[in-house]
Amino acid sequence: MERILIINGPNLNLLGERDPAHYGSKTLDEINKGLLILAFELEVEVVFYQSNHEGDIIDMIHEERKACQGIIINPGALTHYSYSIRDALEAVALPAFEVHLSDISSREEWRRESVISPVAWKTISGQGPEGYLEALRDLVAHIRGS
Ligand code: DQA
Repeated sequence: MERILIINGPNLNLLGERDPAHYGSKTLDEINKGLLILAFELEVEVVFYQSNHEGDIIDMIHEERKACQGIIINPGALTHYSYSIRDALEAVALPAFEVHLSDISSREEWRRESVISPVAWKTISGQGPEGYLEALRDLVAHIRGS
């Protein structure tokens, strides 16, 4: 069974209470429950990881590099400046799907650039929690070559 690592970065543990106008009202647990149901349907294993610390996220990418076949990542604000996460994703050379709940292209100027996108297999932005589900479907199809 394929294994997908699903990473959420800084402040995403506060989903549900954090800025619902941009991020909606679902908690991270609720989003992950939806992903778990889809993973069961797709017959794929998912591993959830959330951290507010850049280095811990990099360690997790390294640790899982041989065990998983793809990564879904919402790097939070690290999206806009973490060359270390960018390099980690490039180094492990796994297909990575970058997810943003809000539409980062239509918010503040500093959110418009993602340093992650150039090494991501695909990016989805502004589709709310549905973006994670689409990422999982698409990534699994890609890994299976369909
Ligand atoms: C985010 C967008 C980022 O700019 C922000 O810092 C986040 C969440 C999103 O999901 O829309 O923490 O990645």
